[in-house]
Amino acid sequence: MVSEQHISSISPCLSPVDEAKEGMIDHRRTAPATQRNRDPILGVLRRILPPTGLVLEIASGTGEHVAHFAAALPSLRWQPSDPDPIARPSIEAWTAGTENILAPLLLDASAETWPVERVEAIICINMVHISPWAASEGLMVGAARVLTPGGRLFLYGPYLEADVETAPSNLAFDASLRSRDPAWGLRDLAEVSALAAASGLVLAECIAMPANNLTVVFERR
Ligand SMILES: C[S@@+](CC[C@H](N)C(=O)[O-])C[C@H]1O[C@@H](n2cnc3c(N)ncnc32)[C@H](O)[C@@H]1O
Repeated sequence: MVSEQHISSISPCLSPVDEAKEGMIDHRRTAPATQRNRDPILGVLRRILPPTGLVLEIASGTGEHVAHFAAALPSLRWQPSDPDPIARPSIEAWTAGTENILAPLLLDASAETWPVERVEAIICINMVHISPWAASEGLMVGAARVLTPGGRLFLYGPYLEADVETAPSNLAFDASLRSRDPAWGLRDLAEVSALAAASGLVLAECIAMPANNLTVVFERR
């Protein structure tokens, strides 16, 4: 099966939706994988997110995911974010006029402080393997700091698992990531879980998703 992964960092991952029309700039970017994975992800989010509260999205990318999830789950408020200056105008463009989506924040998961204080849940899709390990370290520390007790951190992406044969498409994806940036690459689920546990985030669920991806849910106790 062809991997659905983004074979890119932010720029190729975020292609312009269309040529700019005369006199108008369309800031929306698109990542084709979001169309394929958004409904399987939404199916899990419906079950694991609280009925109300603020959901922080880390590494929102184009903004297509948050636009879709916020429309489907209108009783939640959504806070998108991304450190990439190309991403935030795209997020704004995809989410303009949507009442339950806040303006995107510049949030670097590896930073010591985040521009949010308290959230009921966090989602982070396809970042852990397309960023240095420091981003995952910061993600766990920051999530433990800002999540309300019982709050969940939702991760989605490809992982390596002991005793589970890695799909050839994921091995190829891993090699491609590392060739582009040696600090990137698929992470070992046990190492990610240990990192989370060190911050007080307990592994609550691990769910197989289409195209050899996993949803991993941690809970702040
Ligand atoms: C492959 S894109 C995924 C975007 C989106 N979540 C999706 O699935 O389409 C990876 C994203 O991670 C973001 N990212 C990379 N390093 C980060 C960091 N340290 N903190 C937060 N986001 C980061 C990039 O800016 C980019 O938007």
